[in-house]
Amino acid sequence: MKLLILNGPNLNMLGIREPGIYGTVDYEGMVQYLHAGCKEMGVEAEFYQSNHEGDLVDAIQDALGRYDGIVINPGAYTHTSIAILDALKAVALPAAEVHISDVTKREPFRQVSYAGMACQGHFIGEGIEGYLSAARFLKQMIEMMGKGSIAQ
Ligand code: DQA
Repeated sequence: MKLLILNGPNLNMLGIREPGIYGTVDYEGMVQYLHAGCKEMGVEAEFYQSNHEGDLVDAIQDALGRYDGIVINPGAYTHTSIAILDALKAVALPAAEVHISDVTKREPFRQVSYAGMACQGHFIGEGIEGYLSAARFLKQMIEMMGKGSIAQ
C-alpha cells in the first residue's frame, strides 16, 4: 500500500510559520514522524511539497498508476484552486484532505474547500496527527475496495 502525501504552499515553513496555529515541528521533522507512523501501519508513504499550484497538479496527475491514494493538504490553494480539485477528480484515486489547523473556526475565506470536494475523508484541526488519521482512513478504504495495492 503506497500513499502520496502532498503538501501545498507555506507548509515548508512549518515550525517557523505561526507556531501558535501550526505548531513547532518543522516540515522535515513532520515528514520523518509521518514516515515512521505510516510504516507502523503498513503504509509506504512518499512526500512532496510545493509552493506552486501547477506543480501540485502535476504531482496529482503523476500519482495515477504509482500510488494507491493521496493525502493532501493544499494549504491556501484549498480555498481557491479548482485546478487541484479537477486534478483529483481526473485521477479519481482515493483521497483524503488534511488541515493542521481547525479551518472551520477561522476566517470566512477558509470555509470553502475545493480540493475537499474530491476527497472521501476530511481530517481537520488534529495537528500533524491528522495526516496519520488520513493515511489510516485511506488504508481501510482501499482494503475495503479490495483493490490490489500498487506496492506492499
Ligand atoms: C492549512 C489551512 C489553510 O487555510 C492555510 O492556508 C494553510 C494551512 C492547515 O493545514 O491548517 O496554509 O491548510
